[in-house]
Amino acid sequence: MQFFLDSANLEEINQAWNMGVIAGVTTNPSLVAKEGKDFHTLLQEVVQVVDGPISAEVIALDRDGMLKEARELAGMHKNIVVKIPMTEEGLKAVKVLSQEGINTNVTLIFNAIQALLAARAGATYVSPFLGRLDDIGENGLNLVEEICDIFSIHGIETKVIAASIRNPVHVTESAKLGVDFATVPFKVLLQLFKHPLTDAGIEKFLADWKKLG
Ligand code: E4P
Repeated sequence: MQFFLDSANLEEINQAWNMGVIAGVTTNPSLVAKEGKDFHTLLQEVVQVVDGPISAEVIALDRDGMLKEARELAGMHKNIVVKIPMTEEGLKAVKVLSQEGINTNVTLIFNAIQALLAARAGATYVSPFLGRLDDIGENGLNLVEEICDIFSIHGIETKVIAASIRNPVHVTESAKLGVDFATVPFKVLLQLFKHPLTDAGIEKFLADWKKLG
């Protein structure tokens, strides 16, 4: 499993990239809106920092509108992955984009059949949203498991991104289930590094070292 950072904040993206642990970035319209910047300008900044897949979402809801936006986004840089919502129109767009060699990330996946349909339309990635399922009393990790099983049984090459991650347990469990990527918010990424025994161990080593004089 590899890591993506789920953020549109340039400072977070810079810091996470410099940590050396992320392979790319995912954004969504809500994350971009928080930054209050022009979307294309923001993406131009992100591609300067991150040498890996950067998911950028379309806003149109009809196939042709999505195709227009997708081609513009993909034309900006080779690393841009076009994020398309899981709808009938979305999958029509994914089909065309995959034939054009444009990478897609089908987002807002909430059941396993949606993931299978997206894969069959030619999606490069699918993003099941764990946290939002947990929020309504369902189990997001069960969905991730189902998708990984189905893709493995049918030899599907579409990559699975565990999305809407809320805590380090989501990350560990997703890795155990065999997802290809987990896209983590910056706050969760920082939590992943920490263990109180690591901090205590460093403190003890340094205290002992000082005794050498
Ligand atoms: C994934 O690509 C989405 O940007 C993201 O994980 C959504 O997470 P949220 O449910 O925390 O908004």
